[in-house]
Amino acid sequence: MKALLSARPGGPETLVLDELPAPVAGPGDVVVDVHACGVNFPDALIIADRYQLRPPRPFAPGGEVAGIVSATGPGVTHVRPGDRVLAMPGVGGMAEAVKVPAAACHRLPEGMSFEHGATLMATYGTVHYALSRRGQLQPGESMLVLGAAGGIGLAAVELGRARGARVIAAASTAEKVALALGRGASSGFVYPSGEEARDVKALAQLFKQHCGADGVDVICDPVGDVYAEPALRSIAWGGRYLVIGFAAGEIPRVPLNLPLLKGCDIRGVLFGAHAQREPAELRREVEELFDLYARGAIRPHVSHRYALADGGRAIAEVAGRRALGKLVVTVRAD
Ligand SMILES: NC(=O)c1ccc[n+]([C@@H]2O[C@H](COP(=O)([O-])OP(=O)(O)OC[C@H]3O[C@@H](n4cnc5c(N)ncnc54)[C@H](OP(=O)(O)O)[C@@H]3O)[C@@H](O)[C@H]2O)c1
Repeated sequence: MKALLSARPGGPETLVLDELPAPVAGPGDVVVDVHACGVNFPDALIIADRYQLRPPRPFAPGGEVAGIVSATGPGVTHVRPGDRVLAMPGVGGMAEAVKVPAAACHRLPEGMSFEHGATLMATYGTVHYALSRRGQLQPGESMLVLGAAGGIGLAAVELGRARGARVIAAASTAEKVALALGRGASSGFVYPSGEEARDVKALAQLFKQHCGADGVDVICDPVGDVYAEPALRSIAWGGRYLVIGFAAGEIPRVPLNLPLLKGCDIRGVLFGAHAQREPAELRREVEELFDLYARGAIRPHVSHRYALADGGRAIAEVAGRRALGKLVVTVRAD
């Protein structure tokens, strides 16, 4: 089978379309013929050996896919060959077929396309868990979303609105803010990028100006770096700051007097570990997401599609801060 392979650590330009033996389903495994593979920020980190996951080379990046089951191993009962599924292999998705543990594979609901199936779990799954379990976001509360036009960001805008919250979208360009407003944010603003973003005081002032004197109840932060501390300064008394990722690069260090003064919580979100540790919860959350999708409350915004051979270009767009919403590698036509 064809796969887009990382044979040495490096950037997206190091990926090469090559042949790999087709995967074989062992006990508890499902083999999926991939139709669509969602592109995610960690794809760029994994191929550069900058992620906690270090798969043996050569491997194909691609953490989430949708397609059709071609084989199941002994012990697999909830899906069968021929089923349309979404799956979270972690890596290996940018290939004609991928093997996943059965627990990471879910039947697609009626009416969900492969590209929506391949762009649901890493972002909406993470944010649904983040807002419900970690953030306990309530109707009528306010939420600031950083990187609001990214994968996590847009999912937070839509899911925040679906929970009845007032969502304030923050992003680095007017085009990105406009996209978030179109997806349900109540208000939005542009924050600086580059050197200008290093002025903590000015950035904190900007966040305060848009979050109001009382601050926001929840902050959803997949960006980190220089944005984290200024954003935290705009949190409300009793607020919840959700640490989701560090797309801007550095892991921020926050002065501990801030949670003390604000009476707020800083809460970590690690969806992959939650999915492994609490599989029954995960199944319930997947059903809730399918229900939200059926009601039209969430809809992944797929802005560009790439052929398998061009998967590296897609990863470069995400890593280069240029992607809007989700990018998809189309491996087979629907
Ligand atoms: N904790 C978890 O369980 C979990 C699950 C999924 C993802 N994540 C993490 O969440 C983060 C975001 O993932 P995502 O899928 O939303 O990524 P994404 O679609 O690329 O969005 C990330 C956003 O970060 C902002 N950003 C700021 N500086 C950037 C830079 N130097 N390069 C790229 N983006 C930059 C961009 O928005 P602006 O330009 O508007 O600033 C961009 O839209 C990643 O770190 C990912 O690893 C964590």
